[in-house]
Amino acid sequence: MTTNAIRKLTPKPPLLEVSGLCKSYGGQIGCRDVSFAIRPGEVLGIVGESGSGKSTLLACLSGRLAPDAGTISYDMKDRGPVDILTLSEPERRRLARTDWGIVHQNPRDGLRLDVSAGGNIGERPMAIGARHYGNIRAEAQDWLQKVEIDLARTDHRPRTFSGGMQQRLQIARNLVTRPRLVFMDEPTGGLDVSVQARLLDLLRGLVRELGIAVIIVTHDLAVVRLLADRLMVMQRGRVIEQGLTDQVLDDPHHPYTQLLVSSVLQV
Ligand SMILES: Nc1ncnc2c1ncn2[C@@H]1O[C@H](COP(=O)(O)OP(=O)(O)OP(=O)(O)O)[C@@H](O)[C@H]1O
Ligand SMILES: [Mg+2]
Repeated sequence: MTTNAIRKLTPKPPLLEVSGLCKSYGGQIGCRDVSFAIRPGEVLGIVGESGSGKSTLLACLSGRLAPDAGTISYDMKDRGPVDILTLSEPERRRLARTDWGIVHQNPRDGLRLDVSAGGNIGERPMAIGARHYGNIRAEAQDWLQKVEIDLARTDHRPRTFSGGMQQRLQIARNLVTRPRLVFMDEPTGGLDVSVQARLLDLLRGLVRELGIAVIIVTHDLAVVRLLADRLMVMQRGRVIEQGLTDQVLDDPHHPYTQLLVSSVLQV
């Protein structure tokens, strides 16, 4: 077998590997003993009832919350795997700027509402060194088109956009620099069903086209079915089941996952 063939058959090393992650708020459990890995280009869905620790986990992973215990190993482009909890604050901020995207449930948390739509997108390439105004504006407009926002709105502030438009703009702002890993917390929450469906189609196309890894938290099993390669189910802060999405949804082993799947089927 040739070296190339062997390389193709060998799974890529994890981009992010989490082990024994715990976070409490006083006596209240946020997440407990969470372990998993995600490989480059893979989409991992996280589902679970309200209060099961999904947002807590995402906040720990993306550096917005300090965990109480555990390790988060990230395969940095220039250094290889590093426990990001040992990075200095400037190093962590730089990593977030160059390698990651964060799509918030509420687009208002992830946009600068009084900066133009084009500016919201253009800021990201500028933050990693782009300087040519014409190129930055052209790229911003290219992304506005990708997320189906009328170019006539380039100089409008997102404060004047609908919720669905704001969410599409937030996605463009986060993907424009082609990050290696994007965290998404309920990106389709709060949108009406037809807007959700279009947004999901768009997301699926972009994620496949760019080959980025995504960790997506959602209440909605239809979202994971459409987007996620693998699925992790949480209950009371713990991961109770994980595996390939179709496997977990078609043959759930844990009683809670069985309930989750059957309650959706009954709707
Ligand atoms: N800032 C906080 N202070 C105290 N407890 C918190 C805080 N944030 C979360 N918790 C608690 O941690 C647990 C997990 O909350 P988390 O927000 O991570 O759940 P979730 O799975 O994201 O829920 P939802 O689906 O409703 O968004 C809950 O019991 C919650 O009450
Ligand atoms: Mg949450």
